[in-house]
Amino acid sequence: MEPILKVDDINVYYGSIHAIKGISFEVNQGEIVTLIGANGAGKSTTLNTISGLLHSKTGSVSFMGENLGKISPHKIVAKGLAMVPEGRRVFLQMTVQENLEMGAYTQPGSGVDADLEKVYQQFPRLKERYRQIAGTLSGGEQQMLAMGRALMSHPKLLMLDEPSMGLAPILVEQIFEIIQKLHQSGTTILLVEQNAQAALSVANRGYVLETGKVVTTGTGTELLASPAIKKAYLGG
Ligand SMILES: Nc1ncnc2c1ncn2[C@@H]1O[C@H](COP(=O)(O)OP(=O)(O)O)[C@@H](O)[C@H]1O
Ligand SMILES: [Mg+2]
Repeated sequence: MEPILKVDDINVYYGSIHAIKGISFEVNQGEIVTLIGANGAGKSTTLNTISGLLHSKTGSVSFMGENLGKISPHKIVAKGLAMVPEGRRVFLQMTVQENLEMGAYTQPGSGVDADLEKVYQQFPRLKERYRQIAGTLSGGEQQMLAMGRALMSHPKLLMLDEPSMGLAPILVEQIFEIIQKLHQSGTTILLVEQNAQAALSVANRGYVLETGKVVTTGTGTELLASPAIKKAYLGG
């Protein structure tokens, strides 16, 4: 079967800075695939290029067989590719429910109430706080809100950029439990993380990025067991 997402030899620049140097990888339907790597490795640049916020100079990104090269970010979301950006980026002045409704902008009209109900089932914490202003939520709750908002667009592929960043260990655990539940309920996930241990533990496959290149790939289990990965990313 053709992969749902295929990134083929992309090269991305910020002015004269060559940030992504020929990255290729694939995500198959039903998988959790993780991109791990240190700060500055090019993880966010890769996700932002897939989302259409940045453009690759050469190479291609295709989603369900279609080249996304000239498609605008909101149309990419409408095609079923949603991203939770690094740092969550929820609308701080709006309520929880208003944030979720914003996530439905590619599916206006009917069905929004049912989608809200579904998100509230997945995130009971958000249901309890539906009228609360998002800026007053904890970091973990904001992460749940950003994930719930992305789910409102009915993604066929959900991309998460460092969902565990800045969270206390107990919340990191909760977020990863939610990621596993979403996966079990059929969501295909591309997960970017600096927390390699947690990400590889839930992922089917992983790619290791260093300075804009893929240096290693394998199953989550293989990468967790690799002495080189242990040394570089798992604290020995
Ligand atoms: N807006 C920008 N302007 C210039 N360079 C950038 C910009 N954003 C990121 N970079 C550079 O691109 C490289 C990859 O960054 P990034 O994709 O944010 O890495 P990661 O998400 O893995 O931490 C880094 O060297 C970073 O300094
Ligand atoms: Mg990043």
